Order: sequence, then structure tokens, then C-alpha cells
Amino acid sequence: MTVEHYGTRYKEVSLSREKVFRDPVHDYIHIRDEIILSLINTREFQRLRRIRQLGTSSYIFHGAEHSRFSHSLGVYEITRRIINNFVRNFPVSDEHPDQWDDRERIVALCAALLHDIGHGPFSHTFEGIFNTDHEAMTRAIIMSPETEVNAILRGFDEHLPEKVASVIDHTYHNEQVIQLISSQIDADRMDYLLRDAYFAGVSYGTYDLTRILRVIRPQDYQIYFDFSGMHAVEDYVVSRYQMYMQVYFHPVSRGMEELLSNLLDRAKYCYENKPEEMKTPINLLKPFLDNDWGLIDYLYLDDQVLGSYINQWQMEDDPILSDLAYRFMNRHPLKSMLVSEENRQELITAVQQILADRGYDVSFYFGENSSFDTPYDFFKPYSTKTKTQIDLITKTGQIVELSQASLLVSSFTGRERGDHRIYFPREILSEIRQKPIESLTVEEKKVQDAYQSEVNDVTQHIQQRLF
Ligand code: NI
Repeated sequence: MTVEHYGTRYKEVSLSREKVFRDPVHDYIHIRDEIILSLINTREFQRLRRIRQLGTSSYIFHGAEHSRFSHSLGVYEITRRIINNFVRNFPVSDEHPDQWDDRERIVALCAALLHDIGHGPFSHTFEGIFNTDHEAMTRAIIMSPETEVNAILRGFDEHLPEKVASVIDHTYHNEQVIQLISSQIDADRMDYLLRDAYFAGVSYGTYDLTRILRVIRPQDYQIYFDFSGMHAVEDYVVSRYQMYMQVYFHPVSRGMEELLSNLLDRAKYCYENKPEEMKTPINLLKPFLDNDWGLIDYLYLDDQVLGSYINQWQMEDDPILSDLAYRFMNRHPLKSMLVSEENRQELITAVQQILADRGYDVSFYFGENSSFDTPYDFFKPYSTKTKTQIDLITKTGQIVELSQASLLVSSFTGRERGDHRIYFPREILSEIRQKPIESLTVEEKKVQDAYQSEVNDVTQHIQQRLF
């Protein structure tokens, strides 16, 4: 089939026989287009098999060892199902030019498949230490003539790399395509909630995907949800909130991240200050330690490379590096304590004093981590993100923003959730508890009070809405 596409004619080649990938979340992932199969077979995409989706979370939820490869296939599959529904029920026509234009199909499917292609091992922790950026790398992998992904996209249509990259950058001309891949309720989140919940072995992230795929619709050049699907959408928003609180922001998982961050920092310190003493050859990490790396260096990194270096660092002569590596390999996360704005400085000073008294190097045995998320928000005219709200559409065409229709969602709309913690080695915990730190003894009480006032707040809010 030859398709007219903004003045460019290119070939959509179908495989002689549909290909499927068996998936625990979506059952079958269906591949009909040759370009999709070719992209999956590139070295850059295959690399995602070696990068875990949830980083250090598998130290807490041991089933959560799934890769970014499976998540990327899942996002592709959800996008494919949505588009199939759009084509059948809401195609563009003279009467409805604002509905789904199927000439966007390949761009949308490629963007869905490649949206996370730039992720590296332990993304956020690694990025903090070595100044890399997975979003910039995603763009580079799609745009650089050095990659197999770029060659395949270009071979299909010379403008395809730019189009796919612009969907991921949120600058593409068709807002519907952007919203399918990145918005409050998009194929990316729809997949990761179900997938992360499945592999973590929790039931928080589950919601009725089939129903959501049934009620999603393209209209006014935007994506809406039928009002009748409100409860399915509500359930999805609640699931997302619960996954953040229970899985993504898990304090122990963050304790492993803080440990990893200090460990990489120490390796960097040793490399810069006493390279002759380091026994482990770390060729693949060297360009990043030298701050002189390119795209190809980046593509060699994965969880296994980093894991094998950490394993070997246990045998280094530097006592801090070998100790931190031992703690990481054998799952001895840094322990944490909640802090509030009022007691933060006092607590940090006290904990750092204990660390110093006990002979720990504070730069490598202390950490601070702040994790916050707004589970749902209504429209923010000045937001830099594409679309912050979810809109429902009634049978008569009236648009209703989700929190106006759902009491459940309205109870946490616009509210930030999360906490701020400090991290330190577990063995000094009892000593911290023994210290006569005024704010520490009242800390637990404070958290309870804060929780209680929040409960009162929400109850009052709901009562106001009900009566
Ligand atoms: Ni993703």
C-alpha cells in the first residue's frame, strides 16, 4: 500500500505473515508492519533487554526484574489497539476532520515503540553522577546517522526520524499523536502501571484496560474519554497514585539508590584521585569518568556492565569503595528517616555528627532524597507539560474535566504526595535514636498529626461536595 503523507510518498510494507510476541500482560503483541519488526531487531532496541524497567525496586519486590524491552513492546501494543479502534469507529472524514487521521499510524507506532530507547542503566542515579540525560539520548538515537534505528526510520521515509523525535519532544503538529504517547492517560502509563504491578506482585496498579480502550476517542483534534467510562478512568488515576506511594517511592528502594549514588561517586573519586590503585579494568565506564563520551559509548552501557564492575569493586583496596560495593551487592540499603522542613537542618547536623564521630566519611555515607508526585491535576494554563487534565465527553458533546465528575479524584486533585528522607548506614540508627534530639522524639508524632490533619481535610472536602 502506498500512502500519501504530507507530500512524501512512501511504502507501508506489511509482513507476509503477522508476527506475535507472547507477553504476560497483553497476551499477544501483534506486529504487522515490517518497519516495527526491523526496529525491534536493531542493536539499540535489543539493548533494552539488558536494562531493568524499575532499577533498584527489584531489591524490594523481587519479581520486578522486567526490562524496558518488554515495557516498550507493551506501549506499542496499547497504541496499536487504540489506533485500530479509532480507525474502525472515528476515522477522519469531511464531516469529522478532527477525528483520527490514519496516515499518522506509523509515526505513532514508532514513537510508542521508541519512547524509552535512550534509557541507560539505573537511569536517574547514573544521570545524576555522569551528566547523561535519557531524553536527549532518545532523541540522539533516533536522529543520529550512527544508529540502526535511524537507518531503518530513514529508509522508510527520510522525514520519519524527525517526526518520531518530535512526537517524543511534544512538538509534533498532531496533538492527538502526542497525547497517545504522553499525557495524563497515555499508552506509556497504561502499560507501565499494569506491567510494574504484575511483576512486583502487587494488585494496586490494576485497572480495566479493555474498558479504557473502549471509551477513548479522538475529537476536536484532542483525545477524550466517553463520560460513561468515568469509573474506569477514575480507577486508573487511583491505581497510578497507589503505585507511586507503594512501589515507586518505596523508602528502601530509594535507600538502595542512595547507596548506588554514593558508590558511583566514590568510584569516580578513586578514579580521579588515585587511578593507579584501582585494580578493576573499567573500560566501558572510562569515557564517562573522563567526561568525554559519545553515543556509541553510551550504547555499550547496561545493567550487566555496571553490575559486573560493582561486583569487582568489592575487591578494591579503597576501603570505602569496597565496603559500599559489598553493601550494594548484598542488599544492605541505607536506612532512612523522615524529615520535615522545620527539623531538616537539625537532624542532618546531628546525623552527620554521629557519622563523623564514628569515622564515616560523610560524603559517601549520607544521603538525602525527596520524592514527590502530583497524582492528578486539572488544567494549568502555564504548565510546560502538554496536557495536565483528563477530559470526559458526554453524549451531547459537553466536555467535563475528570475531577469535576469524580469525587474520588477530586479529593486528591492538585495535591502533592510523597516525602523527604535522609539516609545513613543502618548500624548508626540506634545511636541516632539515643541522641537527645528534640525534633527527633517528636518526629513520629508530627507525621501522625500531619496524616490526621490530612484525613480531616479530605473528609471535610468530601462532605462539602456531598451535602
Ligand atoms: Ni515508558
